[in-house]
Amino acid sequence: MTNLNPIYNSEELLARAKKVIPNGVYGHQNVAMMNPGVPQFFQKAEGCRLWDVTGKEYIDYLCGYGTNMLGYNYPLVEEAVNQQRKDCDCMTGPSPKMVELAELLVNTVTHCDWAFFAKNGTDATTICVTTARAATRKKKVLAAKVAYHGADPWCTPIPAGVTPEDRAHMIYYKYNDIASFDKAVEQAGDDLAGVIVSAFKHDVFMDQEIPTREFAQHVRKVCDDTGAAMILDEVRAGFRVSLDVSWAKFVGVQPDLSAWCKAIANGHPISFVLGCEKFKTAASQIYSTGSYWFAASPMAAAITTIKEIQRLNLPVMLEKNGMMLRQGLDELAGKYGYELKQTGPAAIPMLLFNKDAIRKKGNFFCTEMLKNGVYFHPWHNMFLSAAHTEDVIVQTLQAADESFAAMQKAGV
Ligand SMILES: Cc1ncc(COP(=O)(O)O)c(C=O)c1O
Repeated sequence: MTNLNPIYNSEELLARAKKVIPNGVYGHQNVAMMNPGVPQFFQKAEGCRLWDVTGKEYIDYLCGYGTNMLGYNYPLVEEAVNQQRKDCDCMTGPSPKMVELAELLVNTVTHCDWAFFAKNGTDATTICVTTARAATRKKKVLAAKVAYHGADPWCTPIPAGVTPEDRAHMIYYKYNDIASFDKAVEQAGDDLAGVIVSAFKHDVFMDQEIPTREFAQHVRKVCDDTGAAMILDEVRAGFRVSLDVSWAKFVGVQPDLSAWCKAIANGHPISFVLGCEKFKTAASQIYSTGSYWFAASPMAAAITTIKEIQRLNLPVMLEKNGMMLRQGLDELAGKYGYELKQTGPAAIPMLLFNKDAIRKKGNFFCTEMLKNGVYFHPWHNMFLSAAHTEDVIVQTLQAADESFAAMQKAGV
């Protein structure tokens, strides 16, 4: 571990932040939701390593909540970005990089005949829903209960400021449950515009669940029969489990529209909607844009990132190292008399403890892991990157050994 010089006292910085920023830190890092002492502010990141403002180093299993999968500050990507910045980033219109990126995506993702670029995952999921409604001229959209698709009124998990009208045309089903899905379809009647599905069930606080083949094929068939758009939300999982859409690997099913963000440009701000030919006219009719959406350097970052993910066949590497972590954690938990529930793809691990309804064990373990220099999350899925090599996993397991020992000693 190489600690750095402290640049701030984190409590003081948080106190200052709370005076001038709602909640101090908002959204998924809202301090009200975090365990006390979880670092909020960081000064540097490199590969899989992160340094907080006090200078303490961590092996980071959040990867910026999934925004990188090559590791922080990946030289090849940063070089492409710097090169583009020299020419210019935000211009009056897009650079040729936009066309190059769209061509790369059409050649990479099976269902993709066109691409549309934005900035955030919420932009991408919202554009998919708007495109579905424009194409079908229908209103109802089906989504899984509590599945996260972003922070706009139609999908935010927090009701403050949201009106019933914002969600008047949303109908909810249970992920992987055909009967509940059919009930939602019935409720939509002849007004079904689209169905949005997560790449896999990756809701906070609970076990993750891979889609079943029967469920996925049923969703596909209903969309084919009714003309509704099948929308796959790849924002979190995109390119982490497959070089195609994740449903190509999990269940062999292709969507009509897919929404992508996070790892696709290794930390640079861009998202995209990919679509099949059938929805191209509708996508050309909707109005969706943003001040920075044509910025060229995130597009340069995305091109380099995607080519590098392909060159390294990264989904395979992440799965292999993720399995090494999963097996190592299971063995260590057993050694100290604990039972873990590790679910979902090994590249996007969720770590919960068995019989831990109030998350006492999970919270204690993750707090100990932080002390031992590893940033784990007690109730949100985590992420591996190319920088989480076997050596790093070995170091992580050493920290886990000490953390389980401390837990046992404390009688938690
Ligand atoms: C599956 C999924 N969809 C959509 C979003 C929204 O993305 P963003 O926060 O970039 O708007 C997220 C963000 O975590 C996500 O995980």
